[in-house]
Amino acid sequence: MRLLRLTGLASALVLLTLAQAPRAAEETDRVTGLELDGDWQLVRANCTECHSALLITQNSGSRGVWQIRIATMRNTHGMESLDAEVEERILDYLAEHYGQRQASRRPPLPAHLLPENPYPPL
Ligand code: HEC
Repeated sequence: MRLLRLTGLASALVLLTLAQAPRAAEETDRVTGLELDGDWQLVRANCTECHSALLITQNSGSRGVWQIRIATMRNTHGMESLDAEVEERILDYLAEHYGQRQASRRPPLPAHLLPENPYPPL
């Protein structure tokens, strides 16, 4: 009886924790890897015909940068023009989920930590 009550309490705690867990910021589509939010399906439908969505998810940029990339798809890579409203919604999605990231490389070492340059200056 006591064990039953404990199990019940444990399940209640698990359920409570699950219910309160904040929605993972980056729930992603299992197939494309696109973040599952807003108009992600428009991106899947219009942007994964020629290449993997990885080209999108590994990139980042402001809305303007994404606009240039979409223009490149159209002008250089033969993508059909998108309906203006669809393009706007895709841009909103991309700018929100794949916006400009901070540089991920570490800053260069200061000169005093570098080995001496063995080559004469040019
Ligand atoms: C008609 C084919 C086609 C469609 C549709 C298409 N792309 Fe591309 N995309 C390409 C090609 C070709 C490349 C170059 C691939 C390479 O370099 O290996 C490319 C490359 C890219 C890159 C990488 C470019 C870079 O600067 O590194 C991004 C980002 C990209 N596409 C985004 C998109 C988005 C967003 C859409 C939808 C709006 C889209 N693509 C739809 C053909 C397409």
